[in-house]
Amino acid sequence: MAVDVVEVPLGERSYEVRIGPGLVARAGEEMAPLLQRPMVWVVSEEAVARLHLQGLKDGLGVTGIGMEALILPAGEATKSWEHVIGTVEWLLDEKVERGDVVVALGGGVIGDLVGFAAAILRRGVRFVQIPTSLLAQVDSSVGGKTGINTRHGKNLVGAFHQPSLVLADIDVLGTLAERDFLAGYGEVVKYGLLGDANFFSWLEANGPGLAAGDMALRQEAVRRSVQMKADIVVRDETEQGDRALLNLGHTFCHALEAATGYSDRLLHGEGVAIGCALAFELSARLGLCAQEDPSRVRAHLSNMKMKRDLYDIEGELPGATALLSLMGQDKKVVDGQLRFILARGIGEAVVTAEVPQDVVRGVLADALATGSGLALRGA
Ligand code: GLY
Repeated sequence: MAVDVVEVPLGERSYEVRIGPGLVARAGEEMAPLLQRPMVWVVSEEAVARLHLQGLKDGLGVTGIGMEALILPAGEATKSWEHVIGTVEWLLDEKVERGDVVVALGGGVIGDLVGFAAAILRRGVRFVQIPTSLLAQVDSSVGGKTGINTRHGKNLVGAFHQPSLVLADIDVLGTLAERDFLAGYGEVVKYGLLGDANFFSWLEANGPGLAAGDMALRQEAVRRSVQMKADIVVRDETEQGDRALLNLGHTFCHALEAATGYSDRLLHGEGVAIGCALAFELSARLGLCAQEDPSRVRAHLSNMKMKRDLYDIEGELPGATALLSLMGQDKKVVDGQLRFILARGIGEAVVTAEVPQDVVRGVLADALATGSGLALRGA
């Protein structure tokens, strides 16, 4: 299979996202033009390093590029001040210079953390993203959002710092557990729902095949998702407007993640998928989209054997009012007003602040009570 290239044209911060098989094994060739000396500094996490670090070392070695590696603990807790400090101090111990390149090998946690460390080290060094989860390939590795969590919430500290190159190796997806793959697929579905009805139809037809392991379908899903993300990021790099569309489903998701303690009870992409279903339900109740749209969203999630309802989340959840108040912590709050990403239909998301809280509370209450009033309407 040939490698697809998606350009992210941002002037002097432009870069390519290369998508295809065998990219880790060819990492030296892919990265060599970026390097001022034949050496890179790789930051990864334990689980990913076990699977892919030696392959990366070999891939770099083919072209005579050496590497040093820092291996951090796996998991969301790594996106912390403590590990930013540890990473930056390690890079300084290693005497990484302004013209050198740091490599993030991992999922969204590693990409966000290493990108942030690269943004602040010597006021900014270049970094390459090698995303190893589907979620990171289609979303977090592209677009330059980097950052960490604090006790106040997720991603509240960070910087826009674009990578110099993204290598999305489709082979690597074969090492993911099914649950992690499907969680990443939540972000893929999001792209169809927010801006491309044809892509959503394509996913309805091809989603089961790509989940079953079809490499060509996987590559095409990643390519189309990345192209959509690149188009939006180029229009609105620092999220003054359109980029917020990428947060479809995320306001609900962030509340659910907080309610489940950012634990294994709910993976981020699972929360996005449920959040998209709730966002469509809210849109339908507000008369914005057709009544059939939420059912169609949920039918696809169900067909993919994904979580789609609040009752798919194990354990107790807080009530609707408490969930609504957790939504108030969202970064999209402006002047105390929650901004929602809603939809006029499949593939037509819009940003709006005009959402009566009692309608949101009603959607949540019904979802908590019945597995959603939604279920009563089919799907
Ligand atoms: N993940 C949303 C964004 O990059 O804007």
